[in-house]
Amino acid sequence: MAKAQPPLQLVLDEITECARASEAFGKVADYIPELAGVNPGQFAIAIARPGHPTLVAGDSDVPFSIQSVSKVFMLALALGKLGDQLWSRVGREPSGQSFDSMLLLELEKGYPRNPFINAGAIVTTDAVLQGSSPRETLGSLLRFIRAAAGDETIHINDRVAQSEIATGHRNFALAHYLRSHDNLKNPPELTLGTYFHQCAVEMTCTQLANAGLFLVGGSRTPRLVSEARIRRINALMMTCGHYDGSGDYAFRVGLPGKSGVGGGILSIVPGVASIAVWSPGLNHYGNSKLGTEAMEQLTTRTGWSVFGPHMTKGG
Ligand code: DON
Repeated sequence: MAKAQPPLQLVLDEITECARASEAFGKVADYIPELAGVNPGQFAIAIARPGHPTLVAGDSDVPFSIQSVSKVFMLALALGKLGDQLWSRVGREPSGQSFDSMLLLELEKGYPRNPFINAGAIVTTDAVLQGSSPRETLGSLLRFIRAAAGDETIHINDRVAQSEIATGHRNFALAHYLRSHDNLKNPPELTLGTYFHQCAVEMTCTQLANAGLFLVGGSRTPRLVSEARIRRINALMMTCGHYDGSGDYAFRVGLPGKSGVGGGILSIVPGVASIAVWSPGLNHYGNSKLGTEAMEQLTTRTGWSVFGPHMTKGG
């Protein structure tokens, strides 16, 4: 006799079925040529909870390029290295602009609004890189991610990094502009080489959900950053993690989240769960279209929201 499925697993299966039935995938990022050929029909979702087996559905074992989701892990490293001094180089306000925008950077004299827009992420990587080499910095990043996920197989896809090095003209423009304001301490090529490789970390949805557990907090999650830092990183993910779509994500999903143009989203239910979703097609903000819709369905059905009166632990 078939065993009854736990309710949360059923919810994930139904969300996956619904995503699979949709043909409105959005558009795969093609400004990084190596990502342009990814099949947009893929979908995966995973939930990691302290003390529970990770629940998965869909293409949860297919590796994808985490891209800007990596900015969360690099921010954790930067805060570990610089503490509050980081805020002298990058702000913590939403930008209301696209992830690669240059507009505010000129108006605000090379001080990026937050660590998740590209300009702010480049400064964050530059800060971690200072006094060490790209190899050491990327080694620290991989050690952090592997420890967070409890998985030593997580790696960087060098082809994706090289593809972006060859075509990342906007990021080069941002880096040189930052340098002109003395807010880039390493040569632009060095910082960007590191940044592009960080973005080229590959993970499956299962690995990403597990890697997010360090932001859930509590005694049964990896203790990689302090509770105070967990709160701050989650606050930045809520206010800035989806760029000019951050308000929309907070409104629809109600959880801190960080997106990447590879189609991944990492969202945190503080004290309860780490959720990863992946679908490569993007909406007009550059965030996963079906991924955002799936997160909205999941939080609607579970009642998970940092804004709600009752946060349940889920089924
Ligand atoms: O720097 C870039 O443009 C990419 N490596 C990362 C951008 C990204 O993932 C934006 N997120 N939705």
